[in-house]
Amino acid sequence: MAQKVNEDHVFYRTPTKVYPTVDRGEGIYIYDKEGRQFIDGSGGAAVVNIGHGVKEIEEAMLKQASRIAFTHGTQFTSEAAIELADRIVKMSPPGLSRVYFLSGGSEAVETAMKMARQYQVDRGNPMKFKVISRWASYHGNTVGALALSGHTGRRRYYLPLMLHTPHIAPCYCYRCPFKLVPETCSVECAEELEKTILYEGPDSVSAFIAEPVVGATAGALVPKDGYFRRIREICDKYDVLLISDEVMSGVGRTGRNWALDHWSVVPDMIVAAKGLASGYTPLYVVVAKEQIHQVIKEKNGTFVHGHTYSQNPLSCSVGTAVLDYLKKHDLVAASAQKGVYLLEKLKGLLKHPIVGDVRGLGLFAGIEFVKDKKTKEPFDPKLRVNVLVGNSAFAKGLISYPGGGGADGVKGDHSLLAPPYIITEAQIDRMVQIMDEAITETEKKVQG
Ligand SMILES: Cc1ncc(COP(=O)(O)O)c(C=O)c1O
Repeated sequence: MAQKVNEDHVFYRTPTKVYPTVDRGEGIYIYDKEGRQFIDGSGGAAVVNIGHGVKEIEEAMLKQASRIAFTHGTQFTSEAAIELADRIVKMSPPGLSRVYFLSGGSEAVETAMKMARQYQVDRGNPMKFKVISRWASYHGNTVGALALSGHTGRRRYYLPLMLHTPHIAPCYCYRCPFKLVPETCSVECAEELEKTILYEGPDSVSAFIAEPVVGATAGALVPKDGYFRRIREICDKYDVLLISDEVMSGVGRTGRNWALDHWSVVPDMIVAAKGLASGYTPLYVVVAKEQIHQVIKEKNGTFVHGHTYSQNPLSCSVGTAVLDYLKKHDLVAASAQKGVYLLEKLKGLLKHPIVGDVRGLGLFAGIEFVKDKKTKEPFDPKLRVNVLVGNSAFAKGLISYPGGGGADGVKGDHSLLAPPYIITEAQIDRMVQIMDEAITETEKKVQG
């Protein structure tokens, strides 16, 4: 049954849009109530990594639910939480050995912010409170996480509510903020962090947060080699914690457990989520260094923070089942291999006059659209080129994740692709073919 605008009582994100009603999911496909099939080419929003309808996950959920689904984190621990924490620590870099469980990404980002702050206070640095982040980034929509996010369009309405959080330029080689080229630059964008820490005062800066591969705001921006190593050095020099926001890029999405593993950089905290439960349940984590846990434990005895659904046993059982499935089917390696194939195929889209750049790592890929390929001039945001491409692909049976604002916070259009790691090469071919057709259709509309 097709839904009609505002006929029901749901407060939709876009109340003027007609959403198809979903029926079920199977593998890389989603089916709606009218029987239409869609390739879940973006895994929702880089969430679904093992595919839909996996029986093992359903069984793990039922098994846990038949024992107990909920306990409050201040009253009990559970075997489910202990087991999942152990599994996450085993897949994380050395030293990151404490896992704080949550149920939302913005909530997890704010938890990391507060954990950094309490750690600094408890170890005798009460002035350290600022968290530096980057432009062209997304860390969530709650007020604290939005303050960190570098997306002007999303921030505008809520600016008066926001904390002071300094932003630095992103590592965005296609639109280098310093007009340099990656072949010869010295990651000047990383040096911006040092300058900003000095401007703000090193004794006031608690942490720096960044997405190792930027997702929603810029379409799979991969940093130059050496960028995060330099960032790590600067953080160490000024006693600033490095928080890696791997909400999209973590749990195998880029072809490694964590995206920062590509550059052998160890952060102080990892914020991770989406792929951890592959969409079967809300499950987010902050993985913290032992030292952070130790200081909070010794100096205060309590982390002055918490949420009702922290350590939810049902969600934790799903997380372990998803990690088991990834391991059993060697899906992180599959993400790396198929990612190479996907990127190769997507490069073919550069033939289009409006495709300026194609980039990615693992099964995390972005296509950036421009009005003028030579000057890289973005389209007028009013044209909503990203939405036109997304809608056209959707009508042809492919779900992609349109985004914008990468160029200057408002302008800039891209599509993000992040399919489940079980996708086959033939299915990737079909995805790319649909994108090709959707871009052709959009070109006709915006270029006449
Ligand atoms: C990198 C990153 N951090 C944080 C978030 C916020 O997560 P949530 O939407 O669950 O609040 C997102 C969501 O897309 C994200 O991509």
